[in-house]
Amino acid sequence: MSNRERATPSGGAHGKRRVLVCCALPYTNAVPHVGNIVGSHLPADIFARYCRLKGYETVFVGGADENGTPTEVAAIELKVTPKRLTDVFYAVHKSIYDWFEISYDNFSRTSLPVHHKTTQELFLKIYEKGYVTKGVMRLPYCENDKLFLADRYVVGKCPVCGYDFARGDQCENCATLLEPEQLIDPKCKIDGSVPVFRDSDNLFLELEKLQPELEAWISGQRHWRKQVSSLALAWIKEGLRRRSITRDLKWGVPVPLEGFEDKIFYVWFDAPIGYISSTKEWAERTGQPERWKDFWMDPETRVYNFLGKDNIPFHTIFWPGMLMANGGLNLPYDVVGLQYCNYEGDKISKSRNWGIFCEKVVESGLDPDIWRYYLTYLIPETKDSEFKWDDFQSRVNNELVAAIGNFVHRTLTFASNFLEGAVRKMELAPDDRRLEEDVKRHAAEADQALQEARLKDALRSVLQIATLGNEYFQKNQPWALIKTDRDACARVIYCCVGICGVLAVAMAPFLPGASRKVARTLGMADALSWEGGLSFSLPDVRLSGKPEILFKKIDDAEVARLRATVTRSSEPAEFFR
Ligand code: MF3
Ligand code: ZN
Repeated sequence: MSNRERATPSGGAHGKRRVLVCCALPYTNAVPHVGNIVGSHLPADIFARYCRLKGYETVFVGGADENGTPTEVAAIELKVTPKRLTDVFYAVHKSIYDWFEISYDNFSRTSLPVHHKTTQELFLKIYEKGYVTKGVMRLPYCENDKLFLADRYVVGKCPVCGYDFARGDQCENCATLLEPEQLIDPKCKIDGSVPVFRDSDNLFLELEKLQPELEAWISGQRHWRKQVSSLALAWIKEGLRRRSITRDLKWGVPVPLEGFEDKIFYVWFDAPIGYISSTKEWAERTGQPERWKDFWMDPETRVYNFLGKDNIPFHTIFWPGMLMANGGLNLPYDVVGLQYCNYEGDKISKSRNWGIFCEKVVESGLDPDIWRYYLTYLIPETKDSEFKWDDFQSRVNNELVAAIGNFVHRTLTFASNFLEGAVRKMELAPDDRRLEEDVKRHAAEADQALQEARLKDALRSVLQIATLGNEYFQKNQPWALIKTDRDACARVIYCCVGICGVLAVAMAPFLPGASRKVARTLGMADALSWEGGLSFSLPDVRLSGKPEILFKKIDDAEVARLRATVTRSSEPAEFFR
């Protein structure tokens, strides 16, 4: 039994488990590419959909990370105000996630008043408790652009690993958290000039005070992925240093402290608080303003965070440190830190036009489920993954279409053509009972994998259910039986329809559109449930309507067409005409 399995105790004291699923808040200074979908939104969505199917009290939150340097710099580059920039990109992001059927209960914005208020309150509390101190920082200032170049907009050599393009907040190569002043040969990322360093009063989060508590907490997280806890423990071992939480910028959450009125919070200070403000906004919007507290203050609630690898230190150290300093709020239960998804042998890059770009994917005319299917295989759970067109085509054709789509279609068309769409409940033969056991075993494997957020493994098990169905159909030859033994034929089709019912449930987290179609044809309830939906014992079923084809094969011409469409990123300026 793996560690992750053992750490799956029963639900809360109220009997029903409560889960808050948080997806890292994307910066809205650009349009997301496929790596962003694979690296956080899609895995978070699959997990949230699964939790709902299990009947857990589930809320799935996220939002746009709109403050600070990333926005100010993009606004300068595009010659628009930060307000306009974030308004436009918020809408673009939102529509893309909607298209992919990312089932956010709330997708918020860190520019909203609820977020400003929540951030300032949390700050004042940890300030009063002594976890914030004042100090002077020498910060890079670009005399050309007339602004302090915080974090990401200074680049230089990493003092730890020597990587040449380390950013002022973090080295992408070795993931070490940095301050701009530590960079060797720093340069302004906007115009390449050499920044000057100016003194500036700042506030610091005293992480070293929190070190023992953080260390004890991280060491206790036996169910975390190895790569996440070992990274976190490595930083702890190096010794935590205080980290600045204010910036000399204008666009962001103002610091509510005398002497700091003209500063804003560092974007990584306010952004994770967005998980709380998004939950508050959800509660407010659904007419139960106090209910956010169930998710943040009841220790029985499990908070799951989904994020990319460069976000791991913030979610294992910095953000938990803030929560500990505050007290009384739930720490993450699991930090699902994912690796990167590359494209055809290289890193995805907008500027080099290398990758798959979401604003084009939504115009691809291809069913979102098809993208979701392949992208689920690309979720970089343990190591970097890679989008490849031939792999895309063969997985879609040989797995999604040939196994799942084909099995469902041949079963339902057979039932519709030869049994007039009436599938009666039948007594199972010994062979059928074995089949049912096998199907249940794969469904149980999928369940266990989903519990542990091993999403690819779960999809594999779902695929195996369809494969079992195809083998059974093939072996029993209902097309021959219909002529010799009508009852036996009806029994075989009853079992196949049963498997379709199981698939409608088990594929729902991954392929929501296909799941809806099958459930509708089988007349299954709108609210599918994992426990209720995995047995064969469907009552008599009357198929509603002619079965539709779920997925079509993708031929070479289609691949060429897609490739020509989705691999060209738009110019950001196009969104501001
Ligand atoms: N905007 C950050 C990024 O895209 C992620 C912020 S995650 C949160 O890397 F925790 F701050 F919300
Ligand atoms: Zn480095």
